[in-house]
Amino acid sequence: MIVVTGANGKLGRKVVEELLKRVPAGEIGVSVRDVNKAQDLQERGVRVRQGSFDDSESLLRAFEEASQVLMISSHSLGEVAVRHHQTAIETAKKAGVRRLLYTSQMFSPATSHFPPMDVHAATEELLKSSGMTFTSLRNGFYAASAKMWMGDALKTGELIAPEDGPVAWTTHSDLAEATAVILTEQGYDGITPNLTASEAIDMDGIASIASKILDRPIRRMVVSDDEYRNHLLSRGLPEAMVGMLAGMFQASRQGDFSQTNPALENLIGRSPVNFADFLKDSISQ
Ligand SMILES: NC(=O)c1ccc[n+]([C@@H]2O[C@H](COP(=O)([O-])OP(=O)(O)OC[C@H]3O[C@@H](n4cnc5c(N)ncnc54)[C@H](OP(=O)(O)O)[C@@H]3O)[C@@H](O)[C@H]2O)c1
Repeated sequence: MIVVTGANGKLGRKVVEELLKRVPAGEIGVSVRDVNKAQDLQERGVRVRQGSFDDSESLLRAFEEASQVLMISSHSLGEVAVRHHQTAIETAKKAGVRRLLYTSQMFSPATSHFPPMDVHAATEELLKSSGMTFTSLRNGFYAASAKMWMGDALKTGELIAPEDGPVAWTTHSDLAEATAVILTEQGYDGITPNLTASEAIDMDGIASIASKILDRPIRRMVVSDDEYRNHLLSRGLPEAMVGMLAGMFQASRQGDFSQTNPALENLIGRSPVNFADFLKDSISQ
């Protein structure tokens, strides 16, 4: 059985949908915090069990009989997230799971300016020292996240952000499909190559793509890191969130997310969705 954690979230649910195209529902299980939200999956024959990274007993039950577990990374920040992942790794080992997969992110050194990277780096160390067979999926930056970094640009016509660098924006759908391929076909033990779309685009590029889609100008305006931080703080965002948002610009202008790799395209057997098509679709929804 393949068990997917976080299956009520965006990536986890898409992975389950991709698995349902490839294996019988009875061979798929989900570990979710709220089983009511996964009732549709239960009705389709997927095993639904309650599981939380805060409760190893629940995870042990959710991982029962699993040969593979896909651990969708916790959306908590810092030490809490690392603790969540440690609990899941230890529990998977205890449950006799043969292979553990983890959603890491492209370029994950502990020294990055982008705070989630130290969580991924620490988790990859835990996976290496666990003695388990594991696959750490070095996922490209979610294209959906780009909309968060664009702020109110689509409304105001001004994309206001610090100096940045190109990012290999990659869709949840393509990553979910690649993950299902890796779960159902062998290969990619250890740390994967970066799983990215085929191009890296900076905020200038995003502004120009958005202008073409909307047929009105979206102007890119560069502000200092401090101005950006102060603006977010003045809107009441918590310090940790501000650090994450601002850190992405620092990291991207050092080129942390600029490398593309054909591995995703090879896994899904077609070109990954490009950013212009992603944005067009998400604006029209
Ligand atoms: N590659 C990237 O660019 C990128 C960008 C942003 C985030 N990420 C990472 O990718 C992950 C998946 O992305 P997504 O878009 O699917 O995020 P999402 O929709 O927020 O899903 C996160 C999932 O994690 C589950 N979760 C959170 N805390 C948990 C806990 N204590 N125990 C068990 N499950 C827990 C959530 O459960 P509930 O449904 O019960 O809330 C949710 O299903 C994120 O959590 C984050 O770590 C990557």
